[in-house]
Amino acid sequence: MIAIEARSVVKTFGALRAVDGVSFKVERGETYGLLGPNGAGKTSIMRMLAGLSPISGGELFLSGLNVAEHSRAVRARLGVVTQADGLDGELSVRQNLEVFGFLVGLSRRQARIRADEVLGFFRLGDRASSEVDELSGGMRRRLAIARALMGEPEVIILDEPSTGLDPESRIRVWEELAELKRADVTLLMSTHYMDEAETLCDRIAIMHSGRILDEGTPPELVSRHAGSAAMDIRPNGSSRESIRRQLDASGLNYREVGALFRVTGGHGAPPALPTIDGIQVTERAANLEDVFLALAGRGLQEDQA
Ligand SMILES: Nc1ncnc2c1ncn2[C@@H]1O[C@H](COP(=O)(O)OP(=O)(O)OP(=O)(O)O)[C@@H](O)[C@H]1O
Ligand SMILES: [Mg+2]
Repeated sequence: MIAIEARSVVKTFGALRAVDGVSFKVERGETYGLLGPNGAGKTSIMRMLAGLSPISGGELFLSGLNVAEHSRAVRARLGVVTQADGLDGELSVRQNLEVFGFLVGLSRRQARIRADEVLGFFRLGDRASSEVDELSGGMRRRLAIARALMGEPEVIILDEPSTGLDPESRIRVWEELAELKRADVTLLMSTHYMDEAETLCDRIAIMHSGRILDEGTPPELVSRHAGSAAMDIRPNGSSRESIRRQLDASGLNYREVGALFRVTGGHGAPPALPTIDGIQVTERAANLEDVFLALAGRGLQEDQA
């Protein structure tokens, strides 16, 4: 069963085509990631799906319902965690949940019961009467996700769910999202963290300038764009120029990142080691970050509006 379908979706802001003909399908229970540089169009797609922004062209479906025609029914099936969390800082944790419960159509009693459930699930029960403004950033983010669960949605949209969280809180959020996945909830998420995408997403769309450049499971994308092996070269001061020359001549994808040269093989072939004395080369398995470095080498970079 298809939970989300985008058919040639377009979003324009004046002359800008922020989303430029995007099509994808997400199956029920799947976690689908939108990845891409700032301004690629990720939030624009999510806002259209959530009914927060009109669709300029094409069609979006949620559980078979056309989003443009059935906005109420769609909203009842959807939980949304926006980039700016939209919590009311002066209300308590519990009040935020209950008020949101009314908005999604729960009675006062149902909202109270459901709030207890999600507070338990997110281990926020002992903070139920704290004002939101007193919470740490991580707790606040988890409350925003908890709130999206008030209506027991089939699909949850998460725009950068763990941005700004410490490592411990991020893993907590990941575990909570994994629980939802086990409950067959469909997740559409965006992230700039490659480890997050690799851990959570079943499939990923790589976006750039409002388009999907490629789509696949994380291992598929890695083998397609970064090959199986990658290496990091740490030059000493005098070898930097010589390494650069050899890498240029080899035709390998590489990028100088701080003190390192990060080299990907591309097209399945592991990069051949250059023969330079006195440098430290570390071979490792290629990962999603290498995919972006490889694509960046071919012109993917921050979108200019
Ligand atoms: N309300 C708006 N009015 C005008 N332009 C907008 C508006 N919202 C977004 N844009 C533009 O649309 C493009 C896509 O923006 P969007 O927020 O979808 O990107 P994103 O992929 O979510 O980026 P980020 O990773 O920074 O969150 C950008 O060029 C942005 O400036
Ligand atoms: Mg965004």
